[in-house]
Parts: sequence; structure tokens; C-alpha cells
Amino acid sequence: MGSLGSDDIFSRMNDSAAAASIKGLRENEPEDIEKTDRRGRVTITTVPRKRGTALKEITLRKPTIGEAPAIVELVNRFAKQGRMLPRALVDVCERIRDFTICESNGHMIGCVAFHILWKDLGEIRSLAVTEHARRQRVGSRLVEYCLQEAQTLGITRVLTLTYECKFFGKLRFRKCSKETLPQKVWKDCINCPHFPNCNETAMLLHLEPAYTQRTKRRRL
Ligand SMILES: CC(C)(COP(=O)(O)OP(=O)(O)OC[C@H]1O[C@@H](n2cnc3c(N)ncnc32)[C@H](O)[C@@H]1OP(=O)(O)O)[C@@H](O)C(=O)NCCC(=O)NCCS
Repeated sequence: MGSLGSDDIFSRMNDSAAAASIKGLRENEPEDIEKTDRRGRVTITTVPRKRGTALKEITLRKPTIGEAPAIVELVNRFAKQGRMLPRALVDVCERIRDFTICESNGHMIGCVAFHILWKDLGEIRSLAVTEHARRQRVGSRLVEYCLQEAQTLGITRVLTLTYECKFFGKLRFRKCSKETLPQKVWKDCINCPHFPNCNETAMLLHLEPAYTQRTKRRRL
């Protein structure tokens, strides 16, 4: 894992005031430094710009098959509270490539799945963050990782069925009518305790395909 040593971090901090004002950060507001290694692992180090404050580091990466039971445990903990659909171990194993996990200090603190539904449509599913890691942008980072995957694949619409409208709203998802979605979306809903009276809200985000962005950048 390509983590930053504290020397690197503190040498960066010497001219952090100037860098921070360029990035629009307030004085002493922590800064996130993001590194992606060759295997696609994203390590985000939150760097405090005051010496003596603890450093925080999280890693977003694809899970191994051996981590499937931990994913099931995390998702089903919130499924029991009626917050999301339960997942069976066999289902998570079959779709392990859909998942991304977030870890901190070697512990899984969050997971998400990005599932392709149609040629231009993908769905964010099974998003869960452990209680003690909430409100630290872990959920947002996991969704952003999925959006990056969607863009790489050329998928231009990302859907979620959720009770967390405010959270997804902050990530620019907007409510949409369920009637406009393809039938395929409802295939897994048969496992939901609320089926067929789904009370989740459908929210959609429109993305610009990565190749369009690259072309635009080259033209600038
Ligand atoms: C929903 C969930 C994934 C959010 O994860 P998180 O790591 O706490 O979210 P973040 O820290 O990235 O929050 C991003 C923003 O959304 C806001 N937010 C997060 N959860 C929120 C909630 N329940 N209600 C309102 N706002 C919320 C945060 O305050 C933050 O706002 P800010 O950018 O203005 O500071 C997490 O609460 C969770 O796992 N819940 C249980 C499972 C669940 O409901 N999953 C969703 C299934 S679709």
C-alpha cells in the first residue's frame, strides 16, 4: 500500500498555508491527500496542518473472496434494521467483483457494490459504514469510487434505491420516477421484506463519460 511517511507529510505541511488557500481550505482545516497504486487501491491520508494532531488514513480497494463473510456481516447488520436489502453469502461471493471496501488500521469500516444493470445504467447497492466511522466521508468516498468505476466503463447513469436521500442528495443524486426505470432493476427486490410495496426512493445521477472528458481536456 503506497502510504505517505510522516516526513513527507510534514514537509508538505511547511507550505501548506499557501496550498490550502489555493484549494479553498480554511486555515488549519485538514487536507486529504489521495494516492492510487497500480492495483487501483486508493489511499486517502487526512493530513492535519497543525503538528501533533493524529493522522488518519483510509484505503479503498476491491475485496478478496475471503472478505465476503465480513461484507455479509456488515450489510446484514443494517438490513436487520430495515435500512437496506439483506445479502446472502453465495450472492456476495458471486458478485464479489461488484464490491469495494474501505479499511482503516486493517479493519473493514465500510463497503459498497456497483452493479451494472444495462448498457448505460449501473446501481449503487449495499452501501454500509460502521457506526463509529460515520460522518467522516467514508460513505461519500465509497460512492465516489463507484462513480469512478462507472465513468471508466462508460456508464452514464447511476441509480440508487435508498432511504438516505439527504446523503445521496449531497452527492448530486436526484429523485426520479420508479416507472422510468427498466424492469431489470426490480429483479433482486423479491428478497426484500417490503416487496412488492417498495418504500425506498429511486435517485439517479447523470455522469459525463470519461472518454468525453479526456477528449475535451485534449482539446483545451
Ligand atoms: C448512509 C451512510 C452510508 C452514510 O455514510 P457516512 O460515511 O456517515 O457519510 P458521509 O460522512 O460521507 O456523509 C456525507 C454528507 O452526508 C451527510 N449525511 C450522512 N448521513 C446522513 C443522514 N443519515 N442524514 C442526513 N445527512 C447525512 C453528512 O453529514 C455529510 O454532509 P456534509 O458533506 O455537509 O458534511 C451511513 O450512515 C450508513 O452506513 N447507514 C446505514 C446503512 C444505510 O442506510 N445505507 C444506505 C443504503 S442505500
